[in-house]
Amino acid sequence: MTRPSLDNSLPPALNNDRLREGAPRSILAGRNRLRHRIIAVRTIFKCGKLPPYKKRRECLRSERSRFALSTLECFLMTATLFTPLTVGDLHLPNRVLMAPLTRSRAGAGNVPQAIAALYYAQRATAGLIISEATQICPEGQGYILTPGIHSAEQVAGWKRVTDAVHANGGRIVLQLWHVGRISHRSFQPNHGLPVAPSAIKPAGQAYTTEGPVDLETPRALETEEIAGIVAQYATAAGHAMDAGFDGVEIHAANGYLIDQFLCDKSNQRTDQYGGSIENRARFLAEVIAAVTARVGAGRTGVRISPEGRFNDVEDSAPQALFEHVVALAKSAGLAYLHVVEGDMTGGAVGRVDYLALRRAFGGVYIANHAYDAQRASNAIASGAIDAVAFGKDYIANPDLVTRLLLGAPLNPQHPETFYGGQAGGYIDYPALTAL
Ligand code: PHB
Repeated sequence: MTRPSLDNSLPPALNNDRLREGAPRSILAGRNRLRHRIIAVRTIFKCGKLPPYKKRRECLRSERSRFALSTLECFLMTATLFTPLTVGDLHLPNRVLMAPLTRSRAGAGNVPQAIAALYYAQRATAGLIISEATQICPEGQGYILTPGIHSAEQVAGWKRVTDAVHANGGRIVLQLWHVGRISHRSFQPNHGLPVAPSAIKPAGQAYTTEGPVDLETPRALETEEIAGIVAQYATAAGHAMDAGFDGVEIHAANGYLIDQFLCDKSNQRTDQYGGSIENRARFLAEVIAAVTARVGAGRTGVRISPEGRFNDVEDSAPQALFEHVVALAKSAGLAYLHVVEGDMTGGAVGRVDYLALRRAFGGVYIANHAYDAQRASNAIASGAIDAVAFGKDYIANPDLVTRLLLGAPLNPQHPETFYGGQAGGYIDYPALTAL
């Protein structure tokens, strides 16, 4: 199935050339050398931590010094990525995180399949895996074959995934999703209209079993209905814990339901959920309160996209709006703030001061959007961010942590298999050891 390259990870392909330019020339050499490099790096950095200075010196004098030296240079270039990080109740061994990525491979009943367990388990060396966006209720679905977390079968399907990730030593949180007006009648239980804060038709198309169709004018939620949706978030968060997840991420980004409430282009309500910034953020505040009451703030993160125009949202004063949102996240004591630092539609950016948001939050700040290893490491070293969520590069490189650690080349990506299909382009990207 082909969809426009608008996946949940957002960044345009990470720039491998830049990675290559910065890396010692020998890193680009053939397989044999790569093997030696793996042996060298394993010898030097048994636990992925930078060894003490004396040890490094000794190592550099050894017979492996030629390989070791260039490996060390490469490692130093990106060293901060491989330091541990405490995120709420979770302890991450590194800061190379897997972004939420829609893959549209769920089975009947939108249940994650056994193959999903293998896909996520292959990526268990990520500091943290954030699952693909997962609908909290049938009305929250917007695309075909995306998984849910509202039925017993879905919980059981996800349990296979979390067990497999944990068996491989990883950590995984579930992203809680309601698409609001980005749904389509064909996904709605009684084929009614999708719901939204206001009856404003978004530009764009829905991807249905019949193919792409224009989005429709949604039905504005009655004030009295909103508490029910808040409760669905909490129930879904509880299901995520039953399914063995280490936590949840509230999806408040990319023009889906929560973002539709936040932004004034899509929210023109006149009740307590519309108008002022405080009112537009009330729905998110209630979701945060309900979810943290269910699973704990130390296991809850939130994702925002302050400058994103994807799905036809936009706010006239994003800095003020998202400073308020970040203040809510801070006062709730959320484990992390996950920020899409750009616009996945490729529109102009520069209206948001991300450093100010990071400072206002004060807790763990995960960045996403067009980061490569070098830029990520520099940003961590400067204190601008704490960790990076990589998107498309995690689709193509199950062992992304090892590759970045070694400065090894990344696998080519196959966008035609990003969405839909089965094993091809899902669980068959090779790891270095298979090369
Ligand atoms: C998607 O296109 O499936 C998609 C995009 C962005 C998201 C989630 C899903 O945040």
